Amino acid sequence: MFRRKSIITVLAASMILSSGVVYAQTNGAPNAQSDTAFDNKVIKKINVDNMYNTIKYLSAVPREAGTEGEVRGVEYIESQFKSLGLETKRIPFPIYDYKTNRELAKVDGVDLNGHAFSGSGSENVTAELVNVGKALAGTVPNDVAGKIALVERGDITFVEKVKNVVAKGAVGVLMYNNSANGNNFGQANGEVPAVAITRAQGLNLVERLKNGSVEATLDVEIQTIEKTSYVVEAKLKPNKNKDTGQIVTIGAHHDSVHLGPGANDDASGVSAVLELARIFVNTPIDTEVRFLTFGSEERGMVGSSFYVSQLPQSDIDRMVAHFQMDMIGGAEAGEDHPLGGLIMYTIDGKKNLVTDLGASAGSRMYDVPLPYGQLGRSDHQPFHDVGIPSALFIHSPVEPQYHQPTDTIEHISKEKLQQAASIVGASAYQIVRPDTPALDRAHVAPATVNYDFENRPVD
Ligand code: BES
Ligand code: ZN
Repeated sequence: MFRRKSIITVLAASMILSSGVVYAQTNGAPNAQSDTAFDNKVIKKINVDNMYNTIKYLSAVPREAGTEGEVRGVEYIESQFKSLGLETKRIPFPIYDYKTNRELAKVDGVDLNGHAFSGSGSENVTAELVNVGKALAGTVPNDVAGKIALVERGDITFVEKVKNVVAKGAVGVLMYNNSANGNNFGQANGEVPAVAITRAQGLNLVERLKNGSVEATLDVEIQTIEKTSYVVEAKLKPNKNKDTGQIVTIGAHHDSVHLGPGANDDASGVSAVLELARIFVNTPIDTEVRFLTFGSEERGMVGSSFYVSQLPQSDIDRMVAHFQMDMIGGAEAGEDHPLGGLIMYTIDGKKNLVTDLGASAGSRMYDVPLPYGQLGRSDHQPFHDVGIPSALFIHSPVEPQYHQPTDTIEHISKEKLQQAASIVGASAYQIVRPDTPALDRAHVAPATVNYDFENRPVD
């Protein structure tokens, strides 16, 4: 009892000193013993075989967002959370696929065999063509109103070009390539029909327009197919009379790429989320922990963006740290970097509470202060965007199986799973254990450690 009290005093004192300083435990520092004891409450309980079995089950079937495979994975994750007695919620959200049923571009009755932009508007229009060059802002002529804009690819995005001509009243877009590289390109926002043609066809029309008017027809029909993807949320509430009011989130994405087994990407992260949930359920805490798995990460973090967008601001205000695990078991990842190449990426390339705690845990447990770097590409992005300190834990450079059909359980390293789950588990525990005073997005661990920024190539 007395020992514990003195620990509280030391921690409280270090928090006062903590502004801007990186806190971590180093061997031989006054609290080395006590912090290691705290780590052990979590890491000794990690059963890597549980993690391995989760990966085995999940990677047996591809889990592309919006498919039966995703639902199968979600049901498994849900059932695991529920068996732990956690308050579990399956949060659905819509995702959209587009199917092109018709993509016709005709000039004087001649079919140009064009390709509709993805996200093109669905309409049948016939009008005169107007050459608007590259459709840069401020250069689009007024006489494009009610006409079809003939646009050259390049310099600005497709979406910007379409926006610029639509702002001047264009009823369609016929865009020619800026290289000899075919006619399959382009993205739009559905305002007007937009069709891509080859450079040769475009230049030919530019010439013809010099000698008089040319009429074109665009006839596009894009079918939107709505599907459902999910976020699984499991809440672990702290003891009622010992609640800091703060929330820590631990997440991974459960979807895979199309037909991908996704053993490492990211069944590995999910396996750690489930294993840490199993451990924290039986560990006293003073801070709410939310265990999250996201669908549709591979479509551009759609699930995590949806999750964050539906949170009440009062929850966001209480969230002090988000730990994202993505690809944490790749046997062939990381080349010869220490700790299998484990690194923490932040969106802005700056340290934060999560990286401080991760570096500190790495240093305590493996004598490696984890480095940090700058990268998005996973679900830490939307958390960062609303001001929550977040980081992605991943081995970098990534393994050759990344997004391949070979991303299977055979290429998973149990040692790497164990290390990553231990570091994230011990880091999160530094915040949620009942001995620490409430965190106000501040640093918590007791001694300092230096850890470096690394500009390491990821793939
Ligand atoms: N696990 C990867 C992210 C990743 C891959 C990070 C390689 C570092 C190196 C993630 O699942 C992924 O593939 N993300 C997409 C994001 C995109 C859809 C916005 C990516 O990076 O292509
Ligand atoms: Zn991933």
